[in-house]
Amino acid sequence: MTSTQPRSTGRKREPDRNLAVELVRATEAAAMASGRYLGRGDKNQVDAAAVDAMRPVLGTVAMRGVVVIGEGEKDEAPMLFNGEQVGDGTGPEVDIAVDPVDGTTLVAKALPDGLSVVALAERGKMFDPGPCFYMRKLVVPPAAASAIDPEAPVGEIIAAVGKALGRRTDDLTVAVLDRPRHEGLIESIRSVGAMIKFLPDGDVAGAIMAASEDTIDAGVDLLFGIGGTPEGVIAAAALRCLGGAIFGRLHPRNDEERAAAIEQGYDLDRILTTTELCGGDDVFFAATGVTDGALLKGVRYGSERISTTSLSMRARSGTIRFIQTFHDPDRSSLVPPLG
Ligand code: FBP
Repeated sequence: MTSTQPRSTGRKREPDRNLAVELVRATEAAAMASGRYLGRGDKNQVDAAAVDAMRPVLGTVAMRGVVVIGEGEKDEAPMLFNGEQVGDGTGPEVDIAVDPVDGTTLVAKALPDGLSVVALAERGKMFDPGPCFYMRKLVVPPAAASAIDPEAPVGEIIAAVGKALGRRTDDLTVAVLDRPRHEGLIESIRSVGAMIKFLPDGDVAGAIMAASEDTIDAGVDLLFGIGGTPEGVIAAAALRCLGGAIFGRLHPRNDEERAAAIEQGYDLDRILTTTELCGGDDVFFAATGVTDGALLKGVRYGSERISTTSLSMRARSGTIRFIQTFHDPDRSSLVPPLG
């Protein structure tokens, strides 16, 4: 006899607050503000507009947050800097990672997959990148998460992912940031017959694409390469919600950075796992498209409404929401005034 009872894992809890839905308002505000600078060629303007719009909205979220991944020295930011306290001062104590725009150049040049992103985890559960600007990353989809050895050669990893997905190696697509430092990696990927999706920027979007075969299906099966460490932590938060895995190894840019990292106790040989990068049960993630992409649609400025498309996810429940919102510029506090 077939049971008509809903499937239960026994892990469900009473309904409670999902901060990821509140966080979407912050990424929407940042996307609407920064999207105004589409194609204007100035990535700093893109970033500044996003930060200015995101900061006040984060201040309304019921949390006691500390920014652990913020606007770094790279951006010389006066707001959303590491250590800044955000939230309305009630609710849970959390770590916050913000990337008001991941892919500022993508927006400045009107290229695909520029996103506004925020992630939350329980206090103390996000990895602190310290002086480590870059990380070597591998992202694989849920079916392959426990089937690969992250230390194996690139070709073997791709073959293992193919096997886990039940697909041929030459039917797989690997996302790689388009950088000269990836020349050797690109050769290794091509030598096993896999295809490559070059990302001009934005490896948070690339990581989500790689982990979301069942949900988003962006035509990417894994991600390899060296990108920002903060972006690696943010990607880990997304993967905690989506499933899949990220493996990261810190990659100092020079001897000075290497020495600083070692002095501060970082182990440069260690492979960091998804939960080491973003641990705890309560992880929330929100992203809004700024430019059109394989992941999300970009902002549209209509005559009556501005529309945004966002992703809102929570690790505890595993819920993934796509949210399309229509904002009234005359009534919504999220829509920044035209400058
Ligand atoms: P920004 O939005 O700060 O420009 O970062 C975009 C990005 O492409 C990240 O997604 C990626 O992790 C990093 O820059 C790669 O750094 P680099 O451009 O130095 O290779």
